[in-house]
Amino acid sequence: MKVKKAVIPAAGFGTRMLPAAKSVPKEMICIAGKPAIHYIVKEAVDAGIEDILIITSRGKTAIEDYFDYSPELEMRLERSGKLELIEELHAIADMANITFIRQKELKGLGHAVMHARSFTGDEPFAVLLGDDIMRSETPVTKQLVEQAEKYSCSCVGVKKVETSEISKYCSLGVKALGDGLFDVQELIEKPTPDKVLSNYAILGRYVLTSGIYDLLENAKPGFGGEIQLTDALNLLCRKERMLALEFEGERFDSGNICGYMEASIQLALANPEISDWLKNYMKGLDI
Ligand code: G1P
Repeated sequence: MKVKKAVIPAAGFGTRMLPAAKSVPKEMICIAGKPAIHYIVKEAVDAGIEDILIITSRGKTAIEDYFDYSPELEMRLERSGKLELIEELHAIADMANITFIRQKELKGLGHAVMHARSFTGDEPFAVLLGDDIMRSETPVTKQLVEQAEKYSCSCVGVKKVETSEISKYCSLGVKALGDGLFDVQELIEKPTPDKVLSNYAILGRYVLTSGIYDLLENAKPGFGGEIQLTDALNLLCRKERMLALEFEGERFDSGNICGYMEASIQLALANPEISDWLKNYMKGLDI
């Protein structure tokens, strides 16, 4: 099994990031000099994936423009001798083969992923959620791809979350295999305290087999009246093997203001061009 494709659902409204997300797609909000979605696409590319489908919705054309050439802007930059900048912009547009599809009605993450069926066909594929920004030694998607390819099955990226937080995520029933790897036996989306299976939750990264599609097509609306990817995963793990990997690295939820601030600070600290400046600036703050 070889994972060559990735799917990035980026259609959501971004209500937790209003008013900023009213006229700018939340995926385009700047984190340490680059839009959030840049880091997501880069992570897929760094995992060896070249074909990427971004699922957007109305009002999100800025994402397409970001990954395109911009001849007028480049002409102006050329006239002012800023050739390095032109190269940098081209490198972004050439980072991967990116295809876009619009989700016309926002009926949930599972419904969004269904839009990828003709793009992936029968191949396995990675899913990277736009809100979850990672900082890790090895790209988190690469960590999952390695396990999925080794065992020829789906593999989801998990971490332990606080008991008080688990209802914001999904919860997994798992059997430990060692080295941070688990067999997934059961999943539940947004569990109430009495339904929590464990403190392990999926945090925005999946490698899935195409077996997920039939289950999504037949899925009934779940939590919040939406077609939930987790509900289809709960069926898939009973039909075929599914692994969970407790991945190495930190995850930031850039979809809310505090997570966004954490991601901004941490990614700025990881950027050699601005980290010294930021450290000095913060040291100088009277707080
Ligand atoms: C989604 C998924 C959930 C997952 C979470 C974090 O929830 O449905 O299972 O744990 O992302 O990646 P959302 O943040 O869209 O409510």
